[in-house]
Order: sequence, then structure tokens, then C-alpha cells
Amino acid sequence: MDPIRNPYAPGAGQRPPELAGRDEQLDRFRVVLERIQRGRPERSMILTGLRGVGKTVLLNALRSTAVRARWGTGKYEARPEQGMRRPMAAALHVAVRELGHPQGDEVDHVLGVIKAFAQKDQPGAKLRDRWNPGIDAPAVTGRADSGDIEIDLVELFTDVGGLAADVGKGVAVFIDEMQDLGPEDVSAICAACHELSQSALPVIVVGAGLPHLPAVLSASKSYSERLFRYTRIDRLSREAAERALQAPAEDEDAEWAPDALEAMYVATGGYPYFIQAYGKEVWDLAPASPISAEDVRVAAPEAEAELAVGFFGSRYERATPGEREYLRAMAELAVQYAENGQEVDEVGSVATADIATHLDRKPQSLSPARDALLKKGLIYSGERGRIAFTVPHFGRYLRAQT
Ligand SMILES: Nc1ncnc2c1ncn2[C@@H]1O[C@H](COP(=O)(O)OP(=O)(O)OP(=O)(O)O)[C@@H](O)[C@H]1O
Ligand SMILES: [Mg+2]
Repeated sequence: MDPIRNPYAPGAGQRPPELAGRDEQLDRFRVVLERIQRGRPERSMILTGLRGVGKTVLLNALRSTAVRARWGTGKYEARPEQGMRRPMAAALHVAVRELGHPQGDEVDHVLGVIKAFAQKDQPGAKLRDRWNPGIDAPAVTGRADSGDIEIDLVELFTDVGGLAADVGKGVAVFIDEMQDLGPEDVSAICAACHELSQSALPVIVVGAGLPHLPAVLSASKSYSERLFRYTRIDRLSREAAERALQAPAEDEDAEWAPDALEAMYVATGGYPYFIQAYGKEVWDLAPASPISAEDVRVAAPEAEAELAVGFFGSRYERATPGEREYLRAMAELAVQYAENGQEVDEVGSVATADIATHLDRKPQSLSPARDALLKKGLIYSGERGRIAFTVPHFGRYLRAQT
């Protein structure tokens, strides 16, 4: 079928033609915004899930919802080794501008506080060498510039929240890849959210990250479990997966036959990235609408090849030989578990002790590889002593490799 009219969109953070199966989260977020605006108690929100389930896309959709409610919004992606001051300042700068507060001097004051917060990034630097977040207003001293990130973030949120309260709106900060925040920044975010919930200021943090993000937060502050509302973003139900495929096709006057939809669900497991990747290949190779199960079968090798390069391969490349050995051991063990009739949990995790046995190595000697893979976000530990892939179907990909 006409590749120019192909509606499917595989890609990191690529807006899907149809955001299927997320109505509940979007509706709930609207309620949260409305409640915060009215000074009702609400918790900040955290979305967690595997690679490619649609966390970034949902985060962006939530942001659009906040923008439509005329909130001030800002977003950034956390990176390991990067402190929070600059990206948080940049995000809040955008948010404050979006608020459209009518009083220039009040806005300038808060922008000055944001600037001071950002510039504390390089304590020793001379004034002219200091990084400027693009704020013209002069930095304000004595606010959010103590150098203690926890204190400073609380003051920053308080001032930004005050500005939002003036105009009867709120500010939402979206943080993607939140598991990559450094420990100090994590504890500052928790402390700031704790403070916000007590003072009923209209500021909310919405985070997205890998499945172990809740563990990262609670390791930092034990009260974090009560601070955030956790929502697990998962693969799509059969019905939602159908809509993700059918609705965009209908917009192009095409359709999927029922058996094709069935075949697609089997092939993709309902994982959004796989749905888009398969959808794209099948569309291009199918001779005509309606798309049939046979078309899916014919296109499957192409789709898998595309995934092997774009989705799996790009991640596998980032692992060193030692780390790859570790990953392969995980993949092989999962099969062994199944063969031995051992119980396998929902996420297909394996025991780290078994990996050592499998590779005939001392557990300590494998720690560096494991830690590096955790840091690269390729694996995660949801439960002590167990480890799982963050990438769905990664084990299958690795086993097909050799
Ligand atoms: N609800 C949905 N319906 C249909 N397609 C979706 C949905 N959510 C995401 N997608 C598609 O899935 C792909 C992955 O989405 P996204 O990049 O948001 O995932 P992610 O969870 O952020 O992944 P990562 O952990 O790698 O950052 C994109 O191509 C996107 O268009
Ligand atoms: Mg993402």
C-alpha cells in the first residue's frame, strides 16, 4: 500500500497516530490538575514501565493536557552524571513564561530566583563565566542559592508555585528517564514534593522511568511511597492494540481484517513500539486493503529485522563484551527455567546467583558488568537478588543472535 500514506510511527517518543489505551491516565490527570488548582491535596505522579511501552509519549500527552488547562509546563530528560540545576531551571523558565502572569516585576523576581538556582551549578565560577539559562532578569540573591539542593529546590518550587497561585493556575514539571537522576537530586525532589503537599501550592512533578523507579525513590526517602501516585504503563490490551492499528488505517481509507489484527497481537504482544514497527512494515508490503493475516506473515521477517537494528541492536551495541555475556546468560537462563518447569514471574526475571552459576563465575566478579548494565538502563532489579530486562522480548532477540 502507498508508503507515503503509511500512518504508523515507530520511534522513541514519536507521537503515535492514535494514543490507544491511555484514556484512564489522561482522565485522571485532568482531575488531578483541577483538584490542585482548587487547593485540594494531591500527589505527584510517576509513570513506570519497560522500554517502548509509551512512557515518553504519555508524558507528552499529559503535558499537552496541562497546557490546554493553561498551566505553565516544563519538561526535561534526566541523564546520569548531570545535575538537576540547569535542566530544572530551563524547564521552570518555560513554565513561568507559559503562565502569562500579568505583573512583570513579580515574574522577573521569580525568574531571578530561577537564575540564581541555576548558577549555583558552578559555585566557584566568575560572574561572566557562569552559565546563563537565557534569563534577562538579574539573579536574586538569598533565594534558592544556598548550595544545598534540597533547600534550594523547595524555595524554588515555593516561589514558582506562588506565581501560579496568583493567576489561579498551576505549574507542572515533567521529568523523563527519572531513574537517571543522581541520589541528591532524587532526595531533593522528594523533599520538595513533600513540602508542596503540605503547603498546598499548585506545583506538581510528573515523572516517567523504568520499573525500578519507585525503588529508587523509596531508597531515598521512606515517605516517598505516600508522596507519589505510581502508575504502571503496560502493553496494550487486545482491544486497545486493535484501535492503535485500526483507527489510523481508517483515516487513510484502509482497514485490517480481523485475522490480521489477531496475528498482529500475537506478533507484538501488545507492546506499543512493536505495534508501530510491525504496522509500518506490514502496511508497506501489503498489496491492498483490507490487510490480511497473510500480509502480516509475509512482513514479519522485515519487521523483525527492523527491530533487530533499531530497537534491540542499538541497545545491545552499548554493552561491552563482558556485559553482553551477562545479558546472554540472562536470556539462556530464562529458557532453562522454563525447561525445568521453574516458576517464572511476570517480568521474566532471573536470580543473579543463578547467572554466576551458569557462567561458572564468582558472583562478585560479575558485579561490575551487572552494575554497568543497570546504569545503562538495559536491566533492572525489581526485587532483591533478581534481575530482568528493561527491553521487552530482549531475551528472544539475544537467543536468535547466535
Ligand atoms: N498508547 C499508544 N498507542 C499506540 N502507540 C503508542 C502508544 N504509546 C506509545 N506508542 C508508540 O510506541 C513507541 C514507543 O513510545 P515511547 O518512546 O513513548 O516509549 P517509552 O516507554 O518512552 O520508551 P523508552 O523507555 O525507550 O524511552 C512510539 O513509536 C510510539 O509512537
Ligand atoms: Mg522514553
